[in-house]
Amino acid sequence: MKFATKAIHAGVEPDPSTGAIMTPIYQTSTYVQESPGKHKGYEYARSSNPTRTALQKALAALENGKHGICYASGLAATDAVLKLFKPGDEIIAPSDIYGGTYRLMKRIFEPLGLIFKFVDIEEVSEIDRLLSGNTKLVWLETPTNPLLKIIDIGQIAQVCKQRGVLTCVDNTFASPYLQNPLDLGADIVMHSVTKYLGGHSDTVMGALITSDDELAAQLKFIQNASGAVPGPQDCFLVLRGIKTLHLRMQRHCENAGQVAVWLAAHPKVGKVYYPGLPDHPGHELAAAQMRGFGGVVSFELKDDSYEKAVRTMERMEVFALGESLGGVESLCTHPASMSHGGMPREERLKIGLKDTLIRLSVGIEDVEDLIADLDQAIGTD
Ligand SMILES: Cc1ncc(COP(=O)(O)O)c(C=O)c1O
Repeated sequence: MKFATKAIHAGVEPDPSTGAIMTPIYQTSTYVQESPGKHKGYEYARSSNPTRTALQKALAALENGKHGICYASGLAATDAVLKLFKPGDEIIAPSDIYGGTYRLMKRIFEPLGLIFKFVDIEEVSEIDRLLSGNTKLVWLETPTNPLLKIIDIGQIAQVCKQRGVLTCVDNTFASPYLQNPLDLGADIVMHSVTKYLGGHSDTVMGALITSDDELAAQLKFIQNASGAVPGPQDCFLVLRGIKTLHLRMQRHCENAGQVAVWLAAHPKVGKVYYPGLPDHPGHELAAAQMRGFGGVVSFELKDDSYEKAVRTMERMEVFALGESLGGVESLCTHPASMSHGGMPREERLKIGLKDTLIRLSVGIEDVEDLIADLDQAIGTD
């Protein structure tokens, strides 16, 4: 089945009791049993819920995986992956990474004994030089948040496989419409479902997808044992959201591409970070690895003052200033104080994330209105 058909049909069966075409919101905490242990496959809603089951199947299908497992947020999904490991195990991750992932690794799991190495994976041609006997996981995020670096998933997954190391890819920025890490050899895909999969800025959720039965069993165990599960109403909203994922992503990519080209030509704009621009260092790799360049564009102004960057963000009218990305409406974020506020300033500066960086989540509005808004916000002063 091709992508759009899967986005609309995968995981969703007519409701067995009524024939309802849309999976109902099973708003229940428990299920009546005929006799102890004799039930219809559902016992308690932390363990399973039919609305969640439908969504998990749909997400697995979109990522060409066997198992989908949903969590209460993207970070809860990452937390579940990290709980697979024990003190002394080493994990390699890109230094340019979502700030909350960095905070979870450094502030929660490092004190518990996991060892993290943050490296500029983009520049590493021989990842195996970095792997030690204790390395158990290479965590990847590509494109990265917020500098849109591109990492070669296939190359890294191949080396890791030979060394018995797992790879998990945060595929939030690409969405399954643009990139399928399992097809490139990764073991686990992670999503902040909150973003493009949900797509309407009304849900917080995370998901993991894998084709490995043993890993899936462990991750499902953690889902139930730790209990960070999404509610059925959120699962319903995401099931609805993904039915238009392909259409939304096409427009996000088109609009972001035009915004990036416009910004790059603007006399007051400095560096523009967008993998679709031919001078982006990861452009060729992105063209080979992805089916489009995504909806996020970051940029700096030539007048690199903090005040000017803040004034520009404050002036935006169509772009709403706020955290997050991937919704139908355009958003503008200040990574240093928002998405990456959990990363110490010296670490941010080390990876090239300036206090003046502006990140745009380009929505699916009319692109002329988006460009006009940026034009007036960047202004002439
Ligand atoms: C790339 C990336 N990964 C993970 C997360 C965390 O997801 P959530 O906010 O759903 O916990 C985010 C959130 O911004 C993100 O941008």
